[in-house]
Amino acid sequence: MPLVSPKEMFEGAYAGGYAIGAFNVNNMEIIQGIMEAGSEENAPLILQVSAGARKYAGQGYIIKLMEAALAQTDLPVVLHLDHGPTFEMCKEVIDGGFTSVMIDGSHLPFDENIALTKQVVTYAHDKGVWVEAELGRLAGIEEDVSSDEHIYTDPDEAVEFVDRTGCDSLAVAIGTSHGAYKFTGEAKLDFDRLDKISALMPKLPIVLHGASSVVQEYVKMANDFGGDIGGAKGVPEDLLRKAASKAVCKINIDTDIRLAMTAVVRKYLAENPAEFDPRGYLGEARKAVKEMVRHKITNVLGCSNKA
Ligand code: G3H
Ligand code: 13P
Ligand code: ZN
Repeated sequence: MPLVSPKEMFEGAYAGGYAIGAFNVNNMEIIQGIMEAGSEENAPLILQVSAGARKYAGQGYIIKLMEAALAQTDLPVVLHLDHGPTFEMCKEVIDGGFTSVMIDGSHLPFDENIALTKQVVTYAHDKGVWVEAELGRLAGIEEDVSSDEHIYTDPDEAVEFVDRTGCDSLAVAIGTSHGAYKFTGEAKLDFDRLDKISALMPKLPIVLHGASSVVQEYVKMANDFGGDIGGAKGVPEDLLRKAASKAVCKINIDTDIRLAMTAVVRKYLAENPAEFDPRGYLGEARKAVKEMVRHKITNVLGCSNKA
């Protein structure tokens, strides 16, 4: 089955009170683990590639790996550019066959974000490609951009932004952040703000970035086997379920996959010191990706059997 647009996935998610998982991919094992989980759960999938992942693996490799994955499944799968930094990169992935892009102008002044997003929308829509944009700023670090402070999305500005850009979905800042250190105190999300945004723009799919839960079992495993990941804290699963039951249709998960892979690789190498066949530890990592994604589909996203 060829790659699909997220349109129908999001329509189903919006109406059904669930969300689609958007999982970051960097290599073959991650792609395979996600695809296996999606197949076992009969769940729609979004596989997303950051600029960093594209640089690491190469766009050509990612596309060929995806072709191999798609040849073995009938699941609906979207290939998405995560945090596209420029019009040129969005254009390159669209020309390469991606069915969805994010243009991330969230660090720019309002009018510049609008101009950049609009430029991408014009090119993408001409090719039938979906465009996610972002308004507001998440605290934490994304590849080249870091911010100490959240700037929560203003609902009225969001209406003007969507109206003037014509983007298809909107990533909002309501308290999440990227990486493994999301909250120092109590974890909370601004659901009133989310409700205001969706009341003003009914049916608009909302995207939640920085939505890993930082599963403590894996933090402990990594630390027990030589890691030093102290005080890591993510978004509690019940808050994500609540967001998915509202207008949030896409939930981005990268950190939880990274942590699970690193924890099991550390454990495997510590317990098998004589092992030097990469298929041993990479095989464990692939299994951990699959288990993590299955867990997300069933316990967080609610999109089992929605393919
Ligand atoms: O939001 C960022 C994603 O977790 C991707 O991270 O830029 O290190 O690939 P990356
Ligand atoms: P996490 O760091 O919480 O996994 O967020 C990933 C993300 O938002 C990718 O765009
Ligand atoms: Zn993100």
